[in-house]
Amino acid sequence: MLRAIYPGSFDPVTNGHLDIIQRGCKLFDEIIVAVLINPEKTAFFNIEERTEILSEVLKTIDRSDCLVKVESFEGLMVQYAIERKANAIVRGIRAISDYEYELQMALMNRRLQPALETVFMMPAEEYSYVSSRLVKEVFQLGARIDGLVPAVVEARMRKKSAK
Ligand code: PNS
Repeated sequence: MLRAIYPGSFDPVTNGHLDIIQRGCKLFDEIIVAVLINPEKTAFFNIEERTEILSEVLKTIDRSDCLVKVESFEGLMVQYAIERKANAIVRGIRAISDYEYELQMALMNRRLQPALETVFMMPAEEYSYVSSRLVKEVFQLGARIDGLVPAVVEARMRKKSAK
């Protein structure tokens, strides 16, 4: 039984994240998508909204290969991963520019918890430029984001920004 944690901010979840989850399902029996509770970071969606959206979106993708759960966590990610008896951490790498930061995190996490392995996965090429940050930026400037995020996410973003 191989369990992985896929940690992140997921503000909002993108099609790139979903692609990684589906690929991760080929390697692991269970993936816990873990949303970081970070009070310092100004978020578009609050933690409840982000976990709710993720759960909704995950219903729409093929997860027959493995069990996918959504949780939130705070504090050290490796601590949380050990509490959840995870074997590995999954992180997506889009371009070389991601690698430097991801390598630093992976090595720090390994120092903190040598038993946990970090597995880097590449999303499909069509998502190689998609990030939550850019999705929010272009959306807030009036651009279309269909194809970059699931339809549920776009609808929730429209609803939220209309308030
Ligand atoms: O989606 P993000 O914002 O790139 O995800 C970053 C995340 C949540 C994986 C990272 O910030 C994290 O693990 N934070 C929890 C605190 C922690 O363990 N920090 C030490 C990292 S070496």
